[in-house]
This record gives sequence, C-alpha cells and structure tokens, in this order.
Amino acid sequence: MSADGAVLDASSTLGASLVMAVGSSRLPKLYELSIAERCRVVTHAASLDGETAAHLERGGGLSVATADTMSENVLATFSLPLSVGLNFVVNGRDVIVPMATEEASVVAAASFAARLVRETGGFRGEEDEPIMTAQIQLDEVADPVAAERDLLAAKAELAERVDASIPGVVSRGGGFRELEVRSLGEGFVVVHVHVDVRDAMGANIVDTVAEAIGDRVAELAEGRLGLRILTNLCLRRRVRVAASVRAADLGGEALADGIARASRFAELDAFRAATHNKGFMNGVDAVALALGQDARALEAGAHAFAATGGAWGSRSYAPLAVWRRTESGLVGEAELPMAVGTVGGSCRSHEGVRAASAILGARSAKELAVIIASVGLASNLAALRALAGEGIQRGHMRLHAKKTCVAGAATKEPRS
Ligand code: MEV
Repeated sequence: MSADGAVLDASSTLGASLVMAVGSSRLPKLYELSIAERCRVVTHAASLDGETAAHLERGGGLSVATADTMSENVLATFSLPLSVGLNFVVNGRDVIVPMATEEASVVAAASFAARLVRETGGFRGEEDEPIMTAQIQLDEVADPVAAERDLLAAKAELAERVDASIPGVVSRGGGFRELEVRSLGEGFVVVHVHVDVRDAMGANIVDTVAEAIGDRVAELAEGRLGLRILTNLCLRRRVRVAASVRAADLGGEALADGIARASRFAELDAFRAATHNKGFMNGVDAVALALGQDARALEAGAHAFAATGGAWGSRSYAPLAVWRRTESGLVGEAELPMAVGTVGGSCRSHEGVRAASAILGARSAKELAVIIASVGLASNLAALRALAGEGIQRGHMRLHAKKTCVAGAATKEPRS
C-alpha cells in the first residue's frame, strides 16, 4: 500500500505510475488513466496536501465568490483545461508543470520535448535579479541636458523617497537600485527608476514608486509631469535557458538538420519569427495562466524584446529561441524578459492558482521564470520537430479529432 492508501499493483498503469511517482516528473502513460486516477498520481508525486488534493478532485477551478473579489460585474467563471506538463528537469530538479490551455497538443508536445531533453540532463537556466523599471514621462523640458544633470545629482534623495514608498519590499531585501535619464527629443525626458521587487511580479510596486516620486522628478527637471507607469520591456529582468537533444533521440540527423535550418529561417525572416515565437509562447502562456501570472505582460515584453533584435542581435524582429547543430544533435537557447512573481497578484486568492503553485513547487520568482522559459523552449522544439518532419497537421489533427468528437456529441444532444 502506498502512503496515500493506494493499493500498488505495479503491473497496472496506475500502480506503475504511483510507484514511479514520488518526486518525479516522469509519469509514463498518465494519459491512459482516468482523471481521478491522474489526480491521485500527481497528488502522490508532488506530495500535495489534503486541501489541494480535494480541490483537484472537485474539478479544480475558481469559486464565483473568489471571482467576485477579482474583477467587476462578475456573472460567472470561465474555465480552461488544467493539465500537467511532464518529464521536465530544470536545473537538476524534476518539476511537474501545470499548464492551462485550450490548444490541443501543446501539453503533449512540450512533455514529449522535455523527455528528449531529460536524456541529456534537462534544461539549464538562470534569471537576472528581479529588477522592474518604472517610467516617468516629463514633457516640455526646456533644457534636457540640465534636467539630466540635476536628476542624477539628486539620485540619493530620490532613492530615499523610492524606498520610503515601498517599505515592505525594502524589508524583504528589495528597493531602489538605479536611475537613468533618457532624452527623447521634442522636449520629452523620461526617467527610468530600476527597483528590485524580489519575488513579486512587481507592476504595482514600480507604479507606486513612479507615483510617489513623480512630482519631485518633474520639479528637478523643470518639466511637466506625464505618465508614471512600468515598462513591460523589463530588459534588466531577463531569463536565459538552454537545452540539448541528441539527433538519435529526435529521429535522426536529417531531422536535426531540418530543425536547425528552421531556426535559421526564423532568424532571417520576421514573418517566420512571429510564428516561431507564437509556438514558444504557447508553452509560456499556458504555464503563466495556470500560475496566475500576467500573460499579457509576458507577451508584451517578449515581443518588444524580439523587436529590438532579441538576444542574437538580429537586424529585425528576432526569434526568442534558436537551435544550432552540434556533433551529437542540437543545442537550443532562449532569452527574453520575464516578469513573474510567487507573491502578490492573484497568486494567493485564486484557489486554482494555489493548487497549481503547490504542484509546481517553485521556490522563488527566479526559479519560476526559468521553468516557464524552459516550457517555452520545449514547445518551440516540439513545433520545429513536427514542422521539419511529418508536418504539424498530422499530429495536431489526431488531437483535433478528439475535440471534434466531443463537439459532435454535444450537438447531438436533444434540443429543447
Ligand atoms: C501553433 O500553435 C504553433 C506553431 O505554428 C509554431 C511554429 O510554427 O513554430 C506550430
């Protein structure tokens, strides 16, 4: 008998999954189990507490009462499938990755790619310090050079004002880090205030900062105060991940060559890069949604970064991830801004987000960012492998058929 009381028949799919489960993200044939059995296996594997397990067994989701505290004019809730991405090893740790998406094949494809990457040790990654940036717009600045001089001379005073406006963040080790002044011409001067937001996503923190010091900044620059808001192009908070796959595991040298050429195609052509990045963001958004992150902010940051040439210095809109041939197969790398948090936002109030966070077990915002980017890289690899091989439609259509059956069944219901 297992710790959760399950009778272990190791020859059954459920028994085998439970035996393999504890601490592992490798849960073979999870898809063959019923939903209730899958919940049991994941509860076991991720050592979930009773409350989380019960939430999953009830079908997960969000109560209308909680929803009513999150938005306005709430009528009901709106659901998506909550799945788990499997086989992920990120910086040496097995992680079961919650993913919320309506798009068939995203979860299966990412899990498949993660299994190939697992063979070579898994994904490796790091994130910069959690620096978010507030922009303070100043208009009608008559002398931008003098404004810059006076603002930089007042850096210590402004830093003090910043920290005084966010004492909780400062007590957790965050706070003011740097001030930059940019002159945009036409009398526009923009002040960037860089703030360490620790484990928060940080939008509210830097918006608070910008509003707290806006008047003083305008006074120093002798300009008219304009917008005070974060930038979603948080260039100082970038995540980098890498992974290797063997050509033999991928399906041969020709397929590995095809993936490398597909990646190069995205470097040379913005039309292709847009779709390449959409595939990468399929994984990013699915994890972000499940974990209660602001997926719109991630999209904005990722595409703005790509438009600046990305990490590879491209002359136009760039791929977020690239794959290059090695002697044994392929190595993939991705880099993008990633503003995610493990405190604040909807992390605490949304029951489904709490459950997803328990399954993932990310210990910091940095770790969460690395995991999310790894799922993006896995999604990208799986898409390129399908495209360079049999084509995306064959696999896609098999899963699509499953959905069509369900829709067909629904339309056959007697109508009143
Ligand atoms: C579909 O959601 C994503 C793909 O178009 C990505 C790609 O083309 O790389 C398959």
